[in-house]
Amino acid sequence: MSGIGAVTKSNSNYKIIDVPENHKKVLDRHLVPGGFVGHEEVDSPWVPFGDNAAIRHLAFDVRQNWYGNILWIKEPGVIGTHKHRGQVIMMCLEGSVRYLEYDWLAKPGDFISEAPGQAHTLVTEHPQGVKLFGWMQGSNEFYDENGEHIETLDVWWFINHYETYCRENGLPINEQLYR
Ligand SMILES: [Fe+2]
Repeated sequence: MSGIGAVTKSNSNYKIIDVPENHKKVLDRHLVPGGFVGHEEVDSPWVPFGDNAAIRHLAFDVRQNWYGNILWIKEPGVIGTHKHRGQVIMMCLEGSVRYLEYDWLAKPGDFISEAPGQAHTLVTEHPQGVKLFGWMQGSNEFYDENGEHIETLDVWWFINHYETYCRENGLPINEQLYR
């Protein structure tokens, strides 16, 4: 094996490498471990979001106001006009989705990024709707058809959405979701 990050074919030579760390004692005190959330509902349930949609929460970072989840719109439908105050990174997993304001249609495998300040209206016209992985930062401000502000969704809203559903349905809170 040679080169940086070389991929080897062998599956018998795996081992954990002890990587040097100048500040190991500091890391031992302060390192935040990564998380793992399995794909089953016991790991994180689909929490209803309106009549025909659900959100599967994956991560909450209360320091950075980041939150990650999968949005599932189960049939043709709309997520109302909203303005992002932070960055958004999304990947279409199933179905298709577009914004009224843009000229593209996202299908499985397509990547979407949104910048702070953008306002748009999310639509799926696919018969099976859409599943959309999203990693979002900051607040999402939702507006009605007259452009009047309705509600702001941020990491605290998403945590409350998750925990309220778990509490009401006797489900355990999965600590792996919290950063
Ligand atoms: Fe958006």
